[in-house]
Amino acid sequence: MADKGAGRAAAPPFEGFYQRPQLKRWLDALPRRFSCRAFSAPADLSQYSALEYAAGRAALPGVRLALSPRGARELVVSVPLFPRFEGLQAFAAILVKPGLKWGRLCAGMSGEALALEMAAMGLSGCFMTGNYRRDLARGLVKEGEEIAAVIPFGVPKDPEGARGRKRKPLAAFCADDPAKWPHWAYKAAEAMRSAPSAMNRQPWRLGFSGSTLSFSGNKPDSVDSGIALLHLECAAGSLPRAWSLARDGKTLLLRTEETDEPV
Ligand SMILES: Cc1cc2nc3c(=O)[nH]c(=O)nc-3n(C[C@H](O)[C@H](O)[C@H](O)COP(=O)(O)O)c2cc1C
Repeated sequence: MADKGAGRAAAPPFEGFYQRPQLKRWLDALPRRFSCRAFSAPADLSQYSALEYAAGRAALPGVRLALSPRGARELVVSVPLFPRFEGLQAFAAILVKPGLKWGRLCAGMSGEALALEMAAMGLSGCFMTGNYRRDLARGLVKEGEEIAAVIPFGVPKDPEGARGRKRKPLAAFCADDPAKWPHWAYKAAEAMRSAPSAMNRQPWRLGFSGSTLSFSGNKPDSVDSGIALLHLECAAGSLPRAWSLARDGKTLLLRTEETDEPV
């Protein structure tokens, strides 16, 4: 539950950054989004150019999304017992200024915005923070940047891959019964539930109190938290809303003026 007594401190760095049409496009793409490891073809020239343009608009301050048309095949390290990749060519790198406050969270949000742009145009990719070769990804890094994650991407071999997503039930994320929440908060929780996470751990908690949804991750400044927060932001994108950081410095609060009935 949101702690009524926690009060609010500074707004988080993504507050007001993404525009309503962007959030709507990404919300519409959520059902098609999955972590794709098998590709039938690379993005074509027009898709690649559209993604480059989107990358410029989706990166939060202090983050850069860089694309490489090739090199993904050598980038990925095959690990026994882990799902194998095939048909790799292009990849994106999510680059962030070292020491940036909320840098990993902003990297996760920006990278997920790019992944949802991919989904909106029939492409797919897979966030990677583990089994990839740092020395190869470094070709995209400029001075004063470090890599938060990479995303190999292309045309998915199985365009319906999202059907295979496995997620915890909503109740596992929530301190109380989300069916008793207002509709907007329930929808936001469902949108968060579809978010990918490292090892599919889904390490998030949601609560609702008054008119405020509260979010916490196992590590507040992490790529996983940023991804989940972007999903919440997409779901609430059409509402007047305000984000803030609770006084505990870890919990993010989303308050809207929406007063609809519980689902
Ligand atoms: C931050 C992050 C890091 C990840 N790192 C890797 C990785 O190193 N290797 C890999 O094969 N998959 C990686 N994944 C993919 C996850 O395993 C995948 O998103 C999760 O299992 C959910 O997949 P789904 O959305 O298709 O259901 C990563 C995902 C995230 C969000």
